[in-house]
Amino acid sequence: MDWKPVLAAIEAATAPHIGSGKVADYIPALARVDPSKFGMAVVLGSGEMLTLGDSHEPFSIQSISKVFTLSMALRWFGESVWDRVGREPSGSAFNSIIQLENEKGIPRNPLINAGAIVITDMLVAASSADAVVNELIARLRRFSGDETIKIDEEVAESESATGSRNRALAYFMASFGNMNNSVEESLGAYFRQCAVRMSCRQLARAALFLAFDGRDPITREQMVSREYCRRINAVMMSCGHYDNSGDFAYRIGLPGKSGVGGGILAVAPGHGVIATWSPGLNAAGTSMVGAVALEELVEATGWSVFV
Ligand code: DON
Repeated sequence: MDWKPVLAAIEAATAPHIGSGKVADYIPALARVDPSKFGMAVVLGSGEMLTLGDSHEPFSIQSISKVFTLSMALRWFGESVWDRVGREPSGSAFNSIIQLENEKGIPRNPLINAGAIVITDMLVAASSADAVVNELIARLRRFSGDETIKIDEEVAESESATGSRNRALAYFMASFGNMNNSVEESLGAYFRQCAVRMSCRQLARAALFLAFDGRDPITREQMVSREYCRRINAVMMSCGHYDNSGDFAYRIGLPGKSGVGGGILAVAPGHGVIATWSPGLNAAGTSMVGAVALEELVEATGWSVFV
């Protein structure tokens, strides 16, 4: 594919939108980011990388970390993951609590906060909070080939200091017996996984296995089985953007995951992985400019899974 016109079309489509949307301010340390940033990286199966803008600059991956912890949990525990968390779209905000009472403390899916907290709780119960976070960072470093990836401890602390809603979700699930560790221990790991800082280049590279049947095409390491890779992508398509998942599927048609730091990770099965970053968000917490960039990319490449 000739990428030059594709990248030019993405630049032209995004330019009028740069700075639009609202930067997340519910975590004070996230609110300080420059809203005019935009970066994008596309990594292909060959390892070739196409980039635009601030693709080097690390940002807080936030909820995008939920995809990596879900992959770890499916690898460690297999089908039993689904005893404690569902796989249906929630149609609700990322931090919503309302379904949890009716559904007896079983979160709708692993990509909303409640579901991701349960996934992290499973991982922590099998090791420890530190071990889970260290394993996550080690994998991200290994796959992006970059030893500098780390947790922004200030963001993690800021998140914990303002984490009443996540504590409410976790204690509510604990009351139904769906937490296996102390709430604080599992939340400590959850807050830290959200505070990992990575650039678009690192993120797209680290997730490349998701576009190639669970196997990293460069190192040839099988990260998750082919069956689970397919299913992680299915959950990303149906649940990756909370109550904006339908709109994202309609506009872009790729499995994706948003984070309130302004990142979007999108998987084009068989083609490659795309990471975008622009801090202005829509009401559901999806990056406005990132979604425009991805919309243009699928238009120009024909990479939507719906063609
Ligand atoms: O749990 C939280 O509030 C955040 N650390 C993560 C939320 C997030 O990224 C939602 N995504 N769009």
